Amino acid sequence: MLARLVAAGLEGREARWLIEEFGASGDALDGAIARRLAGEPLQYVIGHWPFRGLDLDVDARALIPRPETEELVGRAIEVLATSDSPAPVVLDLGCGTGAIGLSILAELAERGVSATLIAVDESRDALALCRQNAIKHRLYAVSFVVGSWYEGLDDSLAGRVDLVVSNPPYVGEIERASLDPVLDYEPSGALVAPDAEGVAGFADLAAVITGAPRWLTRGGSLVVEHGDGQREAVRRAAFGAGLRDVVDYDDLAGRPRVLVARQP
Ligand SMILES: C[S@@+](CC[C@H](N)C(=O)[O-])C[C@H]1O[C@@H](n2cnc3c(N)ncnc32)[C@H](O)[C@@H]1O
Repeated sequence: MLARLVAAGLEGREARWLIEEFGASGDALDGAIARRLAGEPLQYVIGHWPFRGLDLDVDARALIPRPETEELVGRAIEVLATSDSPAPVVLDLGCGTGAIGLSILAELAERGVSATLIAVDESRDALALCRQNAIKHRLYAVSFVVGSWYEGLDDSLAGRVDLVVSNPPYVGEIERASLDPVLDYEPSGALVAPDAEGVAGFADLAAVITGAPRWLTRGGSLVVEHGDGQREAVRRAAFGAGLRDVVDYDDLAGRPRVLVARQP
């Protein structure tokens, strides 16, 4: 069976995963092979994928969570570990599958910390998938807000958020055109952002960073993923917004990736 799948054009590793998921024969396996050979990402074909400790449902409603975003979650948890709040309030902007916010909630719960998550996305489809993942993992301290970045939040939340965390779209239109066509399967609103301040793909990052101080509590933190060429722009935006202790970290591949900043 494995040999048949490899002969059909699948990599051995992927063929093994598909057999594990759909069984060694039958319509489900045939359908999955056809989808994968047509170019659909393996994660969508399988329908779920690991992200840190969680097995997340993934489909075309939201971006497939990336390995570098697992590193961002690690940074966010480090930052929260230094917070005084016994029950932190976490705001995940552009939650997609819920990879970031739900992982933070689950990992804090393992440490005996009960956090509350507000998961925001402008895509109702993405929010529905995030809700599905929250239920799947029995993470119930979550509210779901549809809207653009901070726009749908209740005013009563102002000054009460311990962590604003986000992996907003940050790929510029021009860069997008040169990327792998497999990305066409993912929602384009999850990947591509308009340029701003002369920086490709910077508009959503700018909105997330400059909006954060109004919502953060004193000593609260902003943790944001960004693209390779955006380090100076995110640092400038964070300082400009009045945030302090601004540090920008490389990812494991050595590329600029995660901004951390604190509300004084
Ligand atoms: C790069 S994806 C990140 C998804 C998920 N947080 C992750 O890391 O896998 C960006 C997400 O932001 C959402 N988004 C894009 N523009 C938005 C906006 N103006 N307001 C809120 N969410 C937005 C997209 O729908 C998408 O789910």
